[in-house]
Amino acid sequence: MGLVQTRNIVKDFPAGETNVRVLHDVTVDVNAGELTMLVGPSGCGKTTLLSIMTGILTPSSGEVIIDGTNLTALRDREKVLFRRERLGFVFQQFNLLPALTAAENAAVPLIAAGVPFEDAVARAEAMLRDVGMGPHTAKKPNQLSGGQQQRVAFARALVHRPRVLVCDEPTSALDATSGQQVMEILRAVALQPDCAVIVVTHDNRIYHFADRMIHMADGRIERTEARGEIHDA
Ligand SMILES: Nc1ncnc2c1ncn2[C@@H]1O[C@H](COP(=O)(O)OP(=O)(O)OP(=O)(O)O)[C@@H](O)[C@H]1O
Ligand SMILES: [Mg+2]
Repeated sequence: MGLVQTRNIVKDFPAGETNVRVLHDVTVDVNAGELTMLVGPSGCGKTTLLSIMTGILTPSSGEVIIDGTNLTALRDREKVLFRRERLGFVFQQFNLLPALTAAENAAVPLIAAGVPFEDAVARAEAMLRDVGMGPHTAKKPNQLSGGQQQRVAFARALVHRPRVLVCDEPTSALDATSGQQVMEILRAVALQPDCAVIVVTHDNRIYHFADRMIHMADGRIERTEARGEIHDA
């Protein structure tokens, strides 16, 4: 049974007088202890599915169950708390706050959850060391390379030890070498036996980091491959 399960997800967006269906009956399971990649052509519905899996968007029909909790059935307030506690997010744009140091940026989710500032920063510094950013904790984002900024974003996403880490195009703003490095760190740090990592990507240079690959096309799941069947392009 998947740590993250979607059941018969349908998503319609309004388009003028009618609706356009961007997800058709999507049922997937994302297993704990695995890095699952979600791939497919631009516009096929990857970000929409990721947003529904994480409760950012509500499906038109269908259910999302994370770690036994039916996310779709939660009220808004409960959903916010659930997301804050159990999920971590990394995006293509690192979205770091320019006025804060790396450690302060990585501490933001803890501070938002009510952890005292000093404790939060200490835990963020420990997480930054885990992602190889120990020497850079006091630097501001504009003093860091793209790959280093993305590692701060990973530390921020992982600092509260989420069960599920979700990454939308985490390497697309990086050169090939930095992209490989952040994926190595992602596998080493994020992939605990009871945690799942989901990566949406166009970047075929990182396909070999996947344990499982879900191929989407036109709002549907085309096929799923397990490690061993996956080939870098
Ligand atoms: N808020 C919205 N309102 C209307 N249509 C939307 C909305 N968000 C997405 N869409 C449409 O849904 C489809 C899927 O979009 P989505 O962003 O999920 O694609 P994607 O696979 O992530 O693409 P990319 O690889 O370019 O990021 C697209 O046709 C898009 O135009
Ligand atoms: Mg997208």
